[in-house]
Amino acid sequence: MELQKVIKKRSMTRDFSTQSLSKEIIISILKDSLNAPSAGFSQGVSYLVLFEKQDVDDFWQITSQENWRKSSDLAEGLMNAPVVILPMVSELSYRQRYSSYPKSGSYDISTPYWYVDGGMSVMLALLRIEEEGLGALFIRIRENEDVLCKRFNFDASTYRPIGAILLGYPRDRSKFRGSQNYISRKDPFSQIKFSKFC
Ligand SMILES: Cc1cc2nc3c(=O)[nH]c(=O)nc-3n(C[C@H](O)[C@H](O)[C@H](O)COP(=O)(O)O)c2cc1C
Repeated sequence: MELQKVIKKRSMTRDFSTQSLSKEIIISILKDSLNAPSAGFSQGVSYLVLFEKQDVDDFWQITSQENWRKSSDLAEGLMNAPVVILPMVSELSYRQRYSSYPKSGSYDISTPYWYVDGGMSVMLALLRIEEEGLGALFIRIRENEDVLCKRFNFDASTYRPIGAILLGYPRDRSKFRGSQNYISRKDPFSQIKFSKFC
């Protein structure tokens, strides 16, 4: 599919079917998403793929409340997603990379680039997911990030998940639209400014 079509078509899915997907598709998507730019080419983004049912169940047990799982209209359609991907960023990689620059340069990290680069990579993943005809929802980790780190054996002082990508086949793409139920998209011309000097 042509890039502009993919960009226009992409939207978050909040109602998944339980249909499983192959590891090959996931690997293909994530390999492309890791082709994203990174500050100083630090490459401090990586992905943990929760693929086994038990792992996905544990993700929900840890990061959501039982009350939400039992009573939210959204819960079943979200928890159907057979795969949960945790995009992880390493601040340390950036600190190490930037400290290797010559001291004479002004290479301080004025912006937490690990989060910027995490977003760059996730965006590529979302576009590839759309291109594959799959659905995805990027969500924040609601709670117990430390417990999640322990459960999946990653060192929270080195790697931190910036959220989670729910991945699967959409059951109904338009059923739940999240914030777009009550907020409309801004007119892009209100967000694009040209400097009068350019
Ligand atoms: C950083 C970030 C965090 C988000 N967190 C959530 C979330 O926790 N739950 C949710 O339903 N949607 C979440 N979203 C999805 C947004 O609500 C969604 O992107 C926005 O409403 C625009 O809709 P679209 O992506 O379908 O075009 C998040 C998006 C981003 C970029």
